Amino acid sequence: MRFVMMGCRVLRFSIWVSLILNLVWCSRGFDPVDKYYINCGSSSDFTVGNSNSTFVSDKSASRFLSTPQDILADSNLNSITPSEDSPLFRTARIFTGPSRYTFSIKQGGRHWIRLHFYPFDYQNYDMRSARFSVFAQRTTLLSDFTPRNASVKEYSVNVTTRDLVITFSPSSNSFAYINALEVVSVPDDLITDDASLYNPSAPFTGLMTQSLETVFRLNMGGPFVSLVNDTLGRTWISDSGFLLQPNLATNVSNVGAVRYPQGGATSDAAPETVYGTCTRMNSASDPRSNFNVTWGFKVDPGFQYFIRFHFCDIVSKFADDPIFNVYIDAFLVSPDFELTTKTMGQLATAYFVDYVTPEINKNNLRVSIGPSPRGSYPDAFLNGLEIMKMNNSKDSLAGVSVLPTLPGEKKNLGMIVGVSVGVSVALIMIGVLFFVHRRRKQKRLRYSKTWVPISVNGGTSHTMGSKYSTGTTISVSNMSYRIPFAAIQEATNNFDENLVIGVGGFGKVYKGVFHDGTKIAVKRGNPKSQQGLAEFRTEIEMLSQFRHRHLVSLIGYCDERNEMILVYEYMENGTLKGHLYGSNLPSLSWKRRLEICIGSARGLHYLHTGYAKAVIHRDVKSANILLDENLMAKVADFGLSKTGPEIDQTHVSTAVKGSFGYLDPEYFRRQQLTEKSDVYSFGVVLFEVLCARPVIDPSLPREMVNLAEWAMKWQKKGQLDHIIDQNLAGQIKPNSLRKFAETAEKCLADFGVDRPSMGDVLWNLEYALQLQEAVVHNDPEENSANAIGQLSSQVGEFNHVDTVTSADQFGTSNVDDLSGVSMSRVFSQLVKSEGR
Ligand SMILES: *[C@@H]1O[C@H](CO)[C@@H](O)[C@H](O)[C@H]1NC(C)=O
Ligand SMILES: *[C@@H]1O[C@H](CO)[C@@H](O)[C@H](O)[C@H]1NC(C)=O
Ligand SMILES: *[C@@H]1O[C@H](CO)[C@@H](O)[C@H](O)[C@H]1NC(C)=O
Ligand SMILES: *[C@@H]1O[C@H](CO)[C@@H](O)[C@H](O)[C@H]1NC(C)=O
Ligand SMILES: *[C@@H]1O[C@H](CO)[C@@H](O)[C@H](O)[C@H]1NC(C)=O
Ligand SMILES: *[C@@H]1O[C@H](CO)[C@@H](O)[C@H](O)[C@H]1NC(C)=O
Ligand SMILES: *[C@@H]1O[C@H](CO)[C@@H](O)[C@H](O)[C@H]1NC(C)=O
Repeated sequence: MRFVMMGCRVLRFSIWVSLILNLVWCSRGFDPVDKYYINCGSSSDFTVGNSNSTFVSDKSASRFLSTPQDILADSNLNSITPSEDSPLFRTARIFTGPSRYTFSIKQGGRHWIRLHFYPFDYQNYDMRSARFSVFAQRTTLLSDFTPRNASVKEYSVNVTTRDLVITFSPSSNSFAYINALEVVSVPDDLITDDASLYNPSAPFTGLMTQSLETVFRLNMGGPFVSLVNDTLGRTWISDSGFLLQPNLATNVSNVGAVRYPQGGATSDAAPETVYGTCTRMNSASDPRSNFNVTWGFKVDPGFQYFIRFHFCDIVSKFADDPIFNVYIDAFLVSPDFELTTKTMGQLATAYFVDYVTPEINKNNLRVSIGPSPRGSYPDAFLNGLEIMKMNNSKDSLAGVSVLPTLPGEKKNLGMIVGVSVGVSVALIMIGVLFFVHRRRKQKRLRYSKTWVPISVNGGTSHTMGSKYSTGTTISVSNMSYRIPFAAIQEATNNFDENLVIGVGGFGKVYKGVFHDGTKIAVKRGNPKSQQGLAEFRTEIEMLSQFRHRHLVSLIGYCDERNEMILVYEYMENGTLKGHLYGSNLPSLSWKRRLEICIGSARGLHYLHTGYAKAVIHRDVKSANILLDENLMAKVADFGLSKTGPEIDQTHVSTAVKGSFGYLDPEYFRRQQLTEKSDVYSFGVVLFEVLCARPVIDPSLPREMVNLAEWAMKWQKKGQLDHIIDQNLAGQIKPNSLRKFAETAEKCLADFGVDRPSMGDVLWNLEYALQLQEAVVHNDPEENSANAIGQLSSQVGEFNHVDTVTSADQFGTSNVDDLSGVSMSRVFSQLVKSEGR
């Protein structure tokens, strides 16, 4: 076996040399010999964070450039959304003809080349329409490329000449541009010449002449890591969006434990924040678990890929780390992988393994870890993953079109590459945005910790200040919500691992039964989680104030012994999401789906209007809509809820929270929170119900990744029926579908003011149900007097505050066919992670 371990050759020569090198290395960090950072088009320098990377002004860099015409573009600042507000993006250089940067290279070897793009309008140049190619020496980096939105493309090229020439070449009738440019030395031993070729017994050599493009660089089970936290200025994004079945995985974090072995991997391989977190097989509750944890990636066909796996055993207590299998696609690349044999028995020690794939001839790539029959307990983990595209025999990294070109349209290969690359870049940007928002949030928390401790022993009432509502507190006066720890212990058989029905960043969720037979779901928070504490309190505040048939009921809470435990009514049928996809549950009928949507809309309508202050849920998604034994919908998870704008006018801007794919773009842009953000998210849920697919699916072609965008595209064409759940085919009456789709479309309006209220949504969904049920007479128009008549009486009802007492329209549900359904998924999405 020829696993590549950085510096292992040094180790072989002499352990003393390696020790000295290692000490020097660690104390100094990598100091690149060649480093060029250029803030193109700008008149000022810009230093990123507290790093040593100062992007110099365009003027100081003009000596490197030869171009037919100097066009320095400065954006109208308004055109950049605040979340993308990097000074590097504000300016650009525009090239109307072939232009060259020439950098002198002091020390040959691998160099990063990073290209930063952010399109904006400058005079009569609309950068969104720019199309161009970029070459490094003779290697094609980009071909007929149009950058979409903010993007940073990273390459590493072994430069053996004294100069490195980077050429920008506009496509015909177009122009090229660049916002910022980096050329920086890479440590020689970061990528050595050999790796295993898929099959570990067939080593690959020749990496040193390859040009590489970073297509994915992931921090497993951990947050976005920005360039200032990486010794080589790299960024790492969270893997959570790439997991094909997130419920099969859990994440572990122990950054403090990470050790870099002498002569082995250094922090240049990956920082502690990467090695110190991992995504792990979620097998804790079942020793018979037998499944893989799989990540899916969209890649360009026609290339070989270099894949680096980063491992560090932060999960084991003793030197008994798990033995597991590692796969790339269906190929078992590391059978019976046992980390301690590579790290001389040491736990928490950084290690990586490299593989090279054969040429990939499809547009996706999967990486899996799973149990090995040799392991004593089914377990597996992965800490980091890098996927790099290798240049093809034409010395190009730009892909080949797989999509047909339209007649009359010029064949345009680069566009497609650009688009597929755009996805990964978009994901990186999302990571960046999250990082920025988290930083903002952390800042805010630091000076706004105004919580009154929740534990007021023996008090008759206690007050919980709301973090954002100045001077407004909501008090929980009903102490009967408090449940003794002992009672919960008993109900859950002392937190029996076999009763775990969900695990997440916040902690675990157990199924339990009280003395009197009441079934409960017990969410036990991790006491160390600060965010968990905030959410714990919010949830108690909200749920003890609001009681509604369509909101999950809080039975009580426990804060003895620093515990943070919430006890809810048990929801027999799990999440709506679980019934839509990713499980083997029987497909729900259209009528049933409508009823579930109506129920959840009622719950949200009540939240928005049922109380003096509107309450905004902020995390509306199909995983937060739970179904009881009659498949009646209840909205859950109020950890992020906030009271609405009336009392919050001074604090409209708060950290953007919510879930990917459901997030209101207006809220994201303006950070202004209103009930209409919930309406937006609910609109996404409606499409999810109709199409039965995940709201974000990175394994799909670019235009399909985001459900909201995809569905709106078809809806605008009036052809939504092309993409609805196959199981619904022929079931939905056209009028019902039309009404439902129009409603969802309105919810997704760009601006909150254009979206309907939750009451209107409810009305329209009721209407869609009526249209589905209506006996069609001669008049196929939806406005049949019959339907209208029935509706208006109901509208009257819910224009008042929804009163919980109306007859249970779901009472007749027959759920026999669903009994015996596994509960393991029920609350898996309910718990909050710190990573958000
Ligand atoms: C920045 O560079 C200086 C000198 O080149 C070096 O002493 C210092 O350690 C560097 N700082 C960082 C954060 O890399
Ligand atoms: C890219 O920008 C366009 C408009 O400039 C926007 O509609 C689109 O949502 C953006 N896409 C991503 C992935 O950010
Ligand atoms: C770069 O390539 C040259 C020869 O082409 C080789 O000698 C050198 O080791 C390579 N450098 C790296 C870092 O791969
Ligand atoms: C990133 O680096 C900064 C200081 O450079 C540090 O304060 C912060 O904790 C680091 N973040 C992570 C996630 O390691
Ligand atoms: C894990 O994935 C590999 C490759 O696709 C497959 O051969 C294996 O059967 C899978 N194992 C399980 C338990 O599903
Ligand atoms: C990548 O390009 C180099 C020339 O720069 C070439 O020697 C090498 O064979 C190419 N790689 C492949 C896989 O063809
Ligand atoms: C950790 O796991 C939870 C669910 O188990 C997930 O929602 C979250 O995104 C994960 N965190 C990170 C940083 O990957």
